[in-house]
Amino acid sequence: MSFDLVLFGGTGDLAWRKLMPALFQAFRHGTLPADGRIIGVARDDLSDDQYRALIQSRFEAVEGAKRPSAEEFARFGALLHFLRMDLSKPDDYARLAASLKQRNADTVVMYVATAPALFTAVCEQIAAAGLNGPHTRVVLEKPLGHDLASNRAINDTVRRCLGERQVFRIDHYLGKPSVQNLFALRFGNALFEPLWRRETIANIQITIAEDLGVEKRGAFYDSTGALRDMVQNHALQLLCAIGMEPPINAHADAIRDEKLKVLRSLKPWTPESLSQHVVRGRYQAGTVHGGRVAGYLEEPGVDSHSRTETFVALRTEIANWRWAGVPFYIRTGKRLAGRDARIEVNFRPAPHAIFTSPLGSANRLVIKLQPQDGLELHLLAQGQDNRRNAQALAPVQLDLDFDKRFGTERVGAYERLLLDVIDGRLNLFVRSDEQEEAWRWVEPILDAWRSDTQGPRPYAAGTWGPSAASAMIARDGYCWSEEC
Ligand code: BG6
Repeated sequence: MSFDLVLFGGTGDLAWRKLMPALFQAFRHGTLPADGRIIGVARDDLSDDQYRALIQSRFEAVEGAKRPSAEEFARFGALLHFLRMDLSKPDDYARLAASLKQRNADTVVMYVATAPALFTAVCEQIAAAGLNGPHTRVVLEKPLGHDLASNRAINDTVRRCLGERQVFRIDHYLGKPSVQNLFALRFGNALFEPLWRRETIANIQITIAEDLGVEKRGAFYDSTGALRDMVQNHALQLLCAIGMEPPINAHADAIRDEKLKVLRSLKPWTPESLSQHVVRGRYQAGTVHGGRVAGYLEEPGVDSHSRTETFVALRTEIANWRWAGVPFYIRTGKRLAGRDARIEVNFRPAPHAIFTSPLGSANRLVIKLQPQDGLELHLLAQGQDNRRNAQALAPVQLDLDFDKRFGTERVGAYERLLLDVIDGRLNLFVRSDEQEEAWRWVEPILDAWRSDTQGPRPYAAGTWGPSAASAMIARDGYCWSEEC
């Protein structure tokens, strides 16, 4: 199968940080179809060879086994081409069309990794140049809009230009191996399904903690914030994966229909729940892994009077028969104590205690997304000192490390998603109605924040966020796992 992958934003941050390394890994793993071209598109004046040299120089910063040898890069580099384009000029799309037509590949992928403001204009130009034929697939990065109205406006334009099955809205969390494992765990085994409900589960916690700050993206982040950057998309997609009903099959729409139902079932916000169940925070200077780091307001590109949040913790419920009354907690933030993404399913304690030991926080399934990718099942077992106290129980855990089990050369999120686009598999991509529903649900939070005079609560960099996040969960009688 032949393909042309056109990378709008071919010299940009995403291309360098995520897409090129992912394409290279796919090439190295032998999964990228050999008959392919990767055409970087940008305003720069570069020849193919200069573009190859630029990408190669970026790879030199990569450490360890992921760095290509000169010989490997030479083979990969042969796929790379460059096209100088001004994305506002129809003539430039005509040149692109001519190049694509000449080769007539089986599949044409247009990856729009530009500034979000250009997404709709690029889609319109693609359609106007007749580049939206049945073999074309268009990949759109997040953020698609900054609220429901802007997301709808983008989706309306995209729908006028392309069929829904041609549009691949990326949420790279869906490409993470652990998230696919979550589907395997839930729908490939009969073991958990009878337990996956309100009668047995006390609460579910979704944590996406980052130790990094806003890096070089201060200006972008300042107009976005943690709710839009992480909750509206990644965290809600995780919530869907954990809360959805079993789909009738593994086809994209069967999965997306079930995720949509979860989003539609999220308990609507009320003034009371908005004030009790949502906490926003902003990091101040602090110490992360032993090094001093600046506060958010000192970051380059950030407005010194900014009210943007770098942390969100919230409590919601999925109002349906399976989950009624079970709290789902989400928290995410930058400059927290560590890089740690996990979903914790906390089961109810045994209904009747015959042992003297407290039942504690065992009976917990932890789905670890990063830095390790694995599963932990926390249980209570007979303690070591069982001669002295036959009733003493001790927490133990079953630990499955997927990297050890399957090797570290596993397929990364972007690699998996790029191959899915080339192959036309939509399962791990977000449909427009899902995205709109997610925006509909976060919008009352954004509205409430606009009229709230308090602003984000401070937390020191290197901690787990503002104390209000602990108070929020403590009101239900629970705690975040590192506090229990
Ligand atoms: C991106 C956000 O979508 O996800 C970033 O824009 C964030 O702010 C990143 O750092 C986190 O992704 P990962 O895969 O490193 O957890």
